This record gives sequence, structure tokens and C-alpha cells, in this order.
Amino acid sequence: MTSRREIIKALAGAALLPGALPLARAQGPAHEPLKDIAARKGMRFGTAISHGRNQFGDPAYRALVERECNLIVLENEMKWQALEPAPGKLEFGPADEVIAWARGKGIAVRGHNLFWQAEKWLPAWVGRQNFGPQPAKAVEQLMRTHVSTVCGHFGKAIKSWDVVNEAVDPADGKLRQNALTRPLGALAQIDLAFRLAREHAPQAQLVYNDYMRGDAGSARHRAGVLTLLAELKKRGTPVHALGLQSHIGSWDLSDSGSDKGRADLAEWRKFLDEVTGMGYDLLITELDVNDRRLPADIAKRDAGVAAATRDYLDVTLSYPRLRDILVWGLADNISWLQTWYEAPRQDKLPMRPTPFDGELKAKPMRQAIADAIKAAPPRQG
Ligand code: G3I
Repeated sequence: MTSRREIIKALAGAALLPGALPLARAQGPAHEPLKDIAARKGMRFGTAISHGRNQFGDPAYRALVERECNLIVLENEMKWQALEPAPGKLEFGPADEVIAWARGKGIAVRGHNLFWQAEKWLPAWVGRQNFGPQPAKAVEQLMRTHVSTVCGHFGKAIKSWDVVNEAVDPADGKLRQNALTRPLGALAQIDLAFRLAREHAPQAQLVYNDYMRGDAGSARHRAGVLTLLAELKKRGTPVHALGLQSHIGSWDLSDSGSDKGRADLAEWRKFLDEVTGMGYDLLITELDVNDRRLPADIAKRDAGVAAATRDYLDVTLSYPRLRDILVWGLADNISWLQTWYEAPRQDKLPMRPTPFDGELKAKPMRQAIADAIKAAPPRQG
């Protein structure tokens, strides 16, 4: 039997329907787009999108992104290992295609990311590189070439860059080491990354992006990020904002309103106070909710995910320095969490971590985001 979604997809693909119609059907009752709700508060709403078959390649999913978002980030296609899988072998095609589409729709694009500090996410060839007798110089040259090539290619299309991603080891709060940090020193390497980004992407907001949370298990991570931000400030490193990845739920999900929930949010507020107190802006870069701690029952699970979202956003959006909210995928079926084996559901049921289900129908999490934005203080200017 042909499902409703397949029919809608076929019609949309054949351009038989105006852009809004497939969406209105796929979603059920009409909702005011999240981007419009956000815009009234001087904010933007967006999502990560990959070039893959079930995201950018799916007309219905693409239409949903267009309807809800005025900001996107490429989920994988602008990572160094994707752009340069072998030295000098540059692959800009998939990212360019998505960016051209976004530009045509008036959707802004964030860049993710120039340097991902976990060694396993650097291109493998970088780790194998022999940096010769003057390794610090060679690393600096490699970093310069990378930043100038990538920022030169994308140019003004990118107004916000995750310059450095996940530099702090959550286990001990220390800076991670990798092939680039060892010759230069981790702090100096991070400092250089931001200076190069300022030189080659002078138009862009420069962001340090990480996944610290409010719960006790993340205390060292938070402390390490605060230390890093303080050091960078002391050095005059051009960092404009902290990207709050906001992958919540994995370790920190507790019943909304519980003592633990309240304590975690109080710690989170303290953390954000310190970050903004140092003069940094904030943005939510990768919001989703791992539901492994919630019951199998879908209604209860969706309600729990929505409550966690609302609690988290109420605190986080109370900071007017935060203007952009991005989720890490709009629909459950395409979420990275479906295949993340570090924190799976014990019952092996598919996760429900995003605002829309696999049929692109709005879930309570979407309502929670809308309500939290409506309740947030308006941003000035
Ligand atoms: O494209 C290849 C495909 O050719 C190959 O056959 C297949 C086999 O494994 O792998 C495909 O690549 C995968 C890629 O996603 C695209 O689907 C990689 O294995 C997989 O590791 C990669 O995972 C991504 C992960 O970052 C690592 O880059 C996730 O999609 C992506 O959601 C995740 O995103 C990160 C952020 O960048 C940083 N913050 C945390 C967040 C979640 O982990």
C-alpha cells in the first residue's frame, strides 16, 4: 500500500504541489513556523541537515526544514575529514549543494567545524603526518592552509563558524591532545585556530562548541570549559561565543520538577552566568533529547522529552545573549542517536529525541520549543 507520505513525496518531487502544501499535510494541523515564533523575539531557529538521501535528498524533509528554519548547519559535510579525505583532495560538492539551496530559500548557514579536537575525528591522514624537524612550524602551516582553503571557499556564505569543537575532555576537564596540539601545546593551538579564523573569515561569529551539561557527572567538563574560556580571554583570542551543543538526556534526564532536575538546572545557570559574565555570547547548536531513561510508552516518552526540553530551554533562553537555537535533526528517524551505541535504550526501541516523528508529524517537543521561545525575553536590536 502506498503511504500518505510516499504520495506527498511523489507529488512534491514532481513539483505538482506548491511548497507549503506537502508540509501542511505531512504535519497535520497547521503550526506557526518555529522560525517565525523565534523571529518575533529577535531569535533564529534552525537544524542540522546532512546531504544524505533521507535528509537533503528527501523533498518532504527538505520542505519541513524550509518551513520551520531560517538557519541550518551541515551535520557532517563541512567537517575536515569530509572536505579533505586525503591531503589536497578537496570535496566541496555536497556542502555547496546544500548551501546553494539554503541561499535560494533565504536560510542562513553555520559552519561546523574547522577543528574537532578529539583525535579520532581529525582526518586520519593528519594523524599519520610526519611533521619533520620543525613540527610546530609544519602544524601551523597545515592549520593555515586548512583555514584559508575552507574559509576562502565558503566565504561570506558562513556568518558563524564552530572554529574549535570539543577541546575539553569530560573525564578530567583537561584539554584534549591530538596530532596538532602535541607540537604546539593545546592552548596555543586553539588560540591559533581562532586567530586564523578571524583572518580568513572576518565576517563570521567565531564559536567554541562543546557538550558540557548541568548534571554532576559533567562538573569537570563545565569547569574545564570555564578554564579554557578564561585563558582565551586572557590571551585576547578572538572567540565570540560558546556553542552549547545541548545533547541532553543521556545522563542527565530526571523527572521535570524533581530535586535532581532542579539542582542540575541551578548548576547550569551558574555555568551560563560565568560564561556570559566573561563577555561571551551563547547559542544552542545541537539540541536533542536522548530518551533512554524514559518509559517505552510513546505518549509518556514524548511528554518526558518535551518536559526536559522545556525545563532546559526556560533556563537557557533566559539569557538574552543567546539568539540562535539549532536542533541536531528535525525528525526522529534521521537522528544520529538511533545508531549511537554508547547510550542506547535497553529495550532497543527507536529513540524519539527530536521535534518531529519519522512521518514528519509534530511531537510535544516541538510545542515545548515553541512555548519556551514564546516565554523567553525579547532580544533587543
Ligand atoms: O558517509 C559514510 C558512509 O560512506 C559509510 O558507508 C558509513 C559507514 O559507517 O559511514 C558514513 O559516515 C558516517 C557519517 O556520520 C555520515 O553518516 C560516519 O560513519 C559516522 O561516524 C558519522 O557520524 C556523525 C558524527 O558526528 C561523527 O562525525 C553523525 O552523523 C553526526 O550526527 C555527529 O555529530 C556530532 C557533531 O558533529 C559534534 N557534536 C556531537 C554530534 C553528535 O555526535
